[in-house]
Amino acid sequence: MALEEIDMEVIGLGIDLVEVDHFARLKERGDTAALGRMFTETELAMLPSNAREGERLAGWFGAKEAVLKALGVGQSQGVAWTDVEITTNPVGAPKATLSGRALEVAKERQIEVWLISISHTAAYAAATAIGLSTRGAEKQQQAG
Ligand SMILES: CC(C)(COP(=O)(O)OP(=O)(O)OC[C@H]1O[C@@H](n2cnc3c(N)ncnc32)[C@H](O)[C@@H]1OP(=O)(O)O)[C@@H](O)C(=O)NCCC(=O)NCCS
Repeated sequence: MALEEIDMEVIGLGIDLVEVDHFARLKERGDTAALGRMFTETELAMLPSNAREGERLAGWFGAKEAVLKALGVGQSQGVAWTDVEITTNPVGAPKATLSGRALEVAKERQIEVWLISISHTAAYAAATAIGLSTRGAEKQQQAG
């Protein structure tokens, strides 16, 4: 069933703006410890091997921050950056997959579907995340 045919309720919205330079320098320095704290092995394996890798890393990091904002949690609440994995589908659209504490919070808040959007220039990356639930549809079914 297509997403637009499912009756969903918006539970959380997050946005983030990230400086590309910070991530470009991490990659240039080969700071694998810092990169490993923020990105999963799958994410790092999907990096383009060209000058735009800093933009992609910044965009993905922004998407992780946006998901945490939509969840209403921060790192102090036991959520790791790697609990939110961003991948791209065959046409290049970003997708978020949650694990660990982030997944637990999403379940508590009944968020089942994530919409992620990323944009970047040479200087900045912006990302938004929307967490959706089908709980509204269940309520409607119960009421009807
Ligand atoms: C989507 C698209 C228009 C964005 O181009 P842009 O404005 O030059 O670039 P932005 O910096 O604003 O956005 C780039 C990000 O958009 C996202 N993106 C790419 N393709 C996407 C798609 N099909 N749907 C949604 N998001 C997409 C990615 O996160 C990408 O970042 P990445 O390259 O680091 O993975 C361009 O990638 C494109 O033409 N894609 C193919 C056509 C397509 O599928 N269009 C459907 C969505 S309008």
